[in-house]
Amino acid sequence: MSALTEVQPTVTVTPAQVKFFHEHGFLAVDRITTGDEVERLQAAYDRIFAERCGREEGNQFDLGGSDEDGKPAALPQILNPLKYAPELGEVMARVNARAISKQLLGEDCKDRGSHAILKPAGYGAPTPWHQDEAYWGSDLEYCSLSVWIPLQEASVENGCLWFVPGSHKLEVQAHRCIGGDTRVHGLEMLDHERFTKHAVACPIPAGGATFHLNGTMHYAGPNTTQTPRRALILGFGLDAKPRQTPRKFPWNEAKRAPRQERAKAFRERQEKKTTA
Ligand code: NI
Repeated sequence: MSALTEVQPTVTVTPAQVKFFHEHGFLAVDRITTGDEVERLQAAYDRIFAERCGREEGNQFDLGGSDEDGKPAALPQILNPLKYAPELGEVMARVNARAISKQLLGEDCKDRGSHAILKPAGYGAPTPWHQDEAYWGSDLEYCSLSVWIPLQEASVENGCLWFVPGSHKLEVQAHRCIGGDTRVHGLEMLDHERFTKHAVACPIPAGGATFHLNGTMHYAGPNTTQTPRRALILGFGLDAKPRQTPRKFPWNEAKRAPRQERAKAFRERQEKKTTA
């Protein structure tokens, strides 16, 4: 597919869906692409995990574990997977995800990066309750969303997303690195039970997607099935603005994830190359 900016979207959401999204902080859409495209995406997705793309850059790591070399990842993640497999971005799923995001947040909505989270067959760990904004800068005000695109059916059994309706209206709650281990990149919300008793599961067919805001509390269960659960996540949003009320995210300052060291070492090697 070429000149993707000229490709017209094939899916739109209704005013009732836009209203639902702003009221509840999430929206499930049954179809943003075709089965054929999902199969093509699957092949590229599996390749970059199998080839450990981005590992030495700190872009591939274990979101749910201590991430030592040679140790199987509980929850493998790749940041910016489109860098390693551009074909993941040259698809109708992205055209439709972008168009729907503009319907939800306005025409000024821009692409905001991508990532991929794999739950391996039979043991993929749960993704604990969190708000995406807890990973970001504490000094900015965000208005952005994530489009979560499973590359097979997403079910309660293989780790579909769960959301707490209305939680996007709350401030970022206290988080910590999963299990209190500062080597783990993934975050978990403390005291989540008081919110998550109202959570709803969002199973969706292959070719569908869920949309959620930066503050929406969400979770994905473990993968208890015998096939991998693949999810490609595309970010969209307005420009972040400086925040008026200061706040602190101490969990990010405390983090000592091996991926940060690999990213630093990689940057230093690159700098050496350019100055040599
Ligand atoms: Ni998330």
